[in-house]
Amino acid sequence: MPTADIQRRVAELRAAIEKANYEYHVLDAPVISDEQYDGMLRELLGLEEAHPELVTPESPTQRVGAPPSERFKPVEHSRPMLSLGNAFDPDELRAFDQRVRKALGRDRVDYTCELKIDGLAVNLTYVDGKFTQGATRGDGLTGEEITANLRTIRSVPLTLLEAVPGRVDVRGEVYLPVSAFEATNRERAERGEPLFANPRNAAAGAARQIDPRKTAERDLSIYVYSAAGLDVGTQHGLLDRLKDLGLRVNPKWRLVHGIDEVLEYAEERRAEREELGYGVDGVVVKVDRFDDQERLGFVARNPRWAIAYKFPAEQATTTVEEIKVYVGRTGVLTPVAWLAPVQVGGTTVKRATLHNLDEVRRLDVRVGDLVLIQRAGDVIPEVVRAEHDARTAALPEWDMPARCPECEGPVEHREGEVAYRCANPSCPAKQGQRLGHFVSRGAMDIEGAGWAVLSQLQDRGLVSDPADLFSLTVADILSLDRYAEKSATNLYERVQAAKERPLGRILYALGIPHVGGTTSEDLADWLVGELGPTADLRSVFDRLRAATPEDLEGIEGIGPVVAGTIAEWFADPEEQAFLDKLVEAGVRPIMPERRVAPPQSPFKGKSVVFTGTLERRSREDAEDLVRRLGGKPAASVSKKTDLVVAGPGAGTKLEKAKQLGIEVIDEDAFDRLLGSPPD
Ligand code: IVH
Repeated sequence: MPTADIQRRVAELRAAIEKANYEYHVLDAPVISDEQYDGMLRELLGLEEAHPELVTPESPTQRVGAPPSERFKPVEHSRPMLSLGNAFDPDELRAFDQRVRKALGRDRVDYTCELKIDGLAVNLTYVDGKFTQGATRGDGLTGEEITANLRTIRSVPLTLLEAVPGRVDVRGEVYLPVSAFEATNRERAERGEPLFANPRNAAAGAARQIDPRKTAERDLSIYVYSAAGLDVGTQHGLLDRLKDLGLRVNPKWRLVHGIDEVLEYAEERRAEREELGYGVDGVVVKVDRFDDQERLGFVARNPRWAIAYKFPAEQATTTVEEIKVYVGRTGVLTPVAWLAPVQVGGTTVKRATLHNLDEVRRLDVRVGDLVLIQRAGDVIPEVVRAEHDARTAALPEWDMPARCPECEGPVEHREGEVAYRCANPSCPAKQGQRLGHFVSRGAMDIEGAGWAVLSQLQDRGLVSDPADLFSLTVADILSLDRYAEKSATNLYERVQAAKERPLGRILYALGIPHVGGTTSEDLADWLVGELGPTADLRSVFDRLRAATPEDLEGIEGIGPVVAGTIAEWFADPEEQAFLDKLVEAGVRPIMPERRVAPPQSPFKGKSVVFTGTLERRSREDAEDLVRRLGGKPAASVSKKTDLVVAGPGAGTKLEKAKQLGIEVIDEDAFDRLLGSPPD
């Protein structure tokens, strides 16, 4: 009979695992790390193995996951979506190999090794080669129907390259590249919204948006790794077949002979982990032959023929020496932990973000605490947990300062918002960040106006808001450190040249909270519709000042929160003075062309693929033109493609277009279609 202690521990673990399942699968807001979760599950499995009489049908070891959220239609999977057992060191991996070899009665087994992509597992159903349904994993038996959302992911083919008869269920991992994840978190931080802890959560959030258009705004992608309904006999054969069908297969897989080669493969992948650009938390090792897989079968929730070999987490423990507060462009205060320097995954970490006060409270981090920190890819290090048991003395709770650390201005916290902000509009930190944003590449793009120049200009009182940049003289610039006549004239000219910019960029440069690049373009498109192609900056600002939140909400892509903020921003007297200064400085917008397709557009509704080198424009510009004329640029050629524009060096896409009998034209012909003959 297990002791009372063991029974208590089992109950504790079950409760904690169930809570984590709920937070992860139902709320989409996981609180503990995967490592912690795996650790608890392993401990529970171990205890249940030693004391089988403790196993109950309700134990989290007896089921695959948690119930799906009720927001999406449930879909029953044609076969369960299972998960994998883990190995954390070479010994555990060798033990797996030994079990496999023993069960198969063979000395050596071939394995297909793949990357374990850190994303959201999905099932794609194809019927007669057409994508008919997409679903999340859910509890493994029943998932959520997210077909419309998955359709927005460009790497999910809507039609397979071969119309395979009957039903094929393809499985894969939807993920967000690290760069897109970082951009998402930057935008969320600006809006004062809680940040995603890792790319996987961000991908799950994006894929499970109620509104598929929101999913489409993210750069989600997919890698597929398994399928039922295809006539192949091995995992490596399956990956080849999936690729041939036009599905995205991660190219880093390898067929290996024996466990030593598996370890070699894993080490190579671990070494290049940070350069991949997407989150990978290990490798998956699969017995290659499907007849062997069948013989091996399953145990509880995991196949006996596969295992996940996890990379060591890039974590370390160190002490919080101080918690400082940074002031962002929109005045949002971000608490940052200053740490005793520590090595994590090959680099020295001295700081970790705490995101916001809610996060500081959730973790209960205090100055003096021992903390576990983590790096994932290129992501800014963050605090995973504080080791409360290690506290030797009572530490005071940390709080947001009542005054801005930069300007002593009042700090405000609006009901219902996570963010705390400095309320002083002329806070130098805010202004400094705002200046930096104004001159940045996606905004007014003033080359040479770096941080050192801007802070000197601010310190000398030459510039307080971004509009002041335009009244700088060559003499003003000459007064700065390290400027001579020529370099000062250069910078002066670049500033003057920046007075003329596309409207979308000017709107973005204003630094309106919640208004990023996409929203700025949406606003610009609406404004050109309202005011025509020759509007000046004053009429643009006048129209925006007069716009009600309802007007703004009517703009495609703008929701109520953003509409409210924009209206509020344009009504603010301080900002109005800033806008007037920009108009008086002579800033001129280049009005965009309206996005609506003219009725006679040769591209309307057409799917167009560019391949090879274009000589008169970049691929992005060409795609933009097609989009504006109502066409749909696509990345790859399929039966749905209407037109291929091929330049020099075109390869497989051109071949395929010819095979499928799709119309192919060169760039000159493309120009003629645009109505502008080549010069
Ligand atoms: S095979 C029955 N291969 O890891 C085996 N899974 O814990 C099914 N994953 O739910 C999984 N990359 O979401 C497999 N190359 C890969 C994978 C992979 C990521 C995820 C998948 C699965 C989880 C297993």
